[in-house]
Amino acid sequence: MDNSKFYITTPIYYSNDNPHLGHTGTTVFADVIARYKRSQNFDVFFLTGTDEHGEKLALTAEKAGKEPQIFVDEMAFRWQEYWRKLNISNNEFMRTSSAGHKQVAQELLQKLYDNGDIYKGVYKGIYCVGCEEFKAEKDLVDGKCPEHRPDQVQYREEENYFFRLSKYVPQVKKYMEENVFSVEPENKKNEMLARLNDEIRDLSASRQTVSWGIPLPFDNAQTTYVWIEALMNYYSATRFYENREDFWPASVHFLGKGNNWFHTVIWPALLIALDLPLPKRVYVHGYYNVEGKKMGKSLGNVISPQDLIDKYSVDGTRYLLCASMPYENDSDVSFKWFNEKYNSVLANGLGNLVSRVAKMAEGLEVSNNHIFNWDDFAIIVEKYNNFRLHEVTTEIEKLINEANTYLNEKSPWKKEGSEKEAILNNVILKILNISALLEPIMPETSLKIRDTFMNNKMPEILFQRIV
Ligand code: MSP
Repeated sequence: MDNSKFYITTPIYYSNDNPHLGHTGTTVFADVIARYKRSQNFDVFFLTGTDEHGEKLALTAEKAGKEPQIFVDEMAFRWQEYWRKLNISNNEFMRTSSAGHKQVAQELLQKLYDNGDIYKGVYKGIYCVGCEEFKAEKDLVDGKCPEHRPDQVQYREEENYFFRLSKYVPQVKKYMEENVFSVEPENKKNEMLARLNDEIRDLSASRQTVSWGIPLPFDNAQTTYVWIEALMNYYSATRFYENREDFWPASVHFLGKGNNWFHTVIWPALLIALDLPLPKRVYVHGYYNVEGKKMGKSLGNVISPQDLIDKYSVDGTRYLLCASMPYENDSDVSFKWFNEKYNSVLANGLGNLVSRVAKMAEGLEVSNNHIFNWDDFAIIVEKYNNFRLHEVTTEIEKLINEANTYLNEKSPWKKEGSEKEAILNNVILKILNISALLEPIMPETSLKIRDTFMNNKMPEILFQRIV
């Protein structure tokens, strides 16, 4: 892949349910980075999508009284609607039940089988349907999965095909240590390296009892274990969508910590076995917790993207998610925190600044030649490049405060003529810089601000104060 290309992915989400704050966070972060990279003239391929096979999906469809294909078709439509509302600029939307993905996944499976990396055996052990994952005793707490209801954990014994994960583990570990593919942030890499010190068993690669999946090309009686074909989506996308063949390997896979092992151990092992290049970066963020608690249906504290859009608008939602982005650690959010941040930064800080200055500048000769240069903002560029979006917002908040302080100190309302115009011109340039820096996070607001000062449109209220 040449260096002007940038391929960024989110996990493909299970479409058995609607998106919540966590899925929305990852998707917004990836979108912000995709937009930022486009602003730097990269040729960007941004992929998100839905993970549509497996036991969990089949059971949910059955409960809804629908054929799995019909169920996932409806859900894929819903997920895309949410992302469209949130102004997500993905170039393609992956669906693993599509014919294109199936064909590439089967080709890769056949190659693994032909090379002797897949063999038949018997699996005996515990399976968590919620995670779609075989578990070791040590993964459970009091015999329960820490992430799912007790009924999701079951003992299974079945004939399976296995992937020779153990054969590739030493190489994966070495590559991870040597940053052949980088796992960021450091603490997420260390967690995986520690786990790799344990004995790693081969991975079950197929299911005998789940019919809703991709049949193994060498044994139609079994379907592919959902995680294996799901990971393959990142590569299959570069094969079956038009003009994407030059985008492998991915520049970065973006995901939350619960998906770390699969993306930084299993996926590289599969790629090494397939003799395909490894992704360059895997970026693993922490989780959002709500008022100190893990978000979950049973706790009744699930926040949906719609709740946020209704309260804070689309751009407000995007900003608040970035400002609270979980980086090394989890991030605790609440409506109280969102309200305060929204009022102080967006309504009072930025919104008020724009409307005050626009009113004062009305009818005056203000210059509209603004040349923005990212190089003038090296700290923010560095934060964007390292995906520290919460720190990008902190830096931009400083610039908003500085512009407000400048305005208050210079008090152009007390001045006349060219002196007044010069002050206002300076503030307008500061605002236009802020708007350009914010463009990846709040594209619509940024456009409105440019329109206000460069095309002399009086602004609507950008962010209504929440009382
Ligand atoms: N289908 C798999 C992923 C396969 S990728 C080849 C899956 N899907 S999921 O619907 O459970 O989504 C998991 C992803 O959702 C996490 O990686 C993360 O991006 C996001 N999050 C889910 N809960 C989250 C929080 N509480 N906080 C932040 N992000 C979280 O696993």
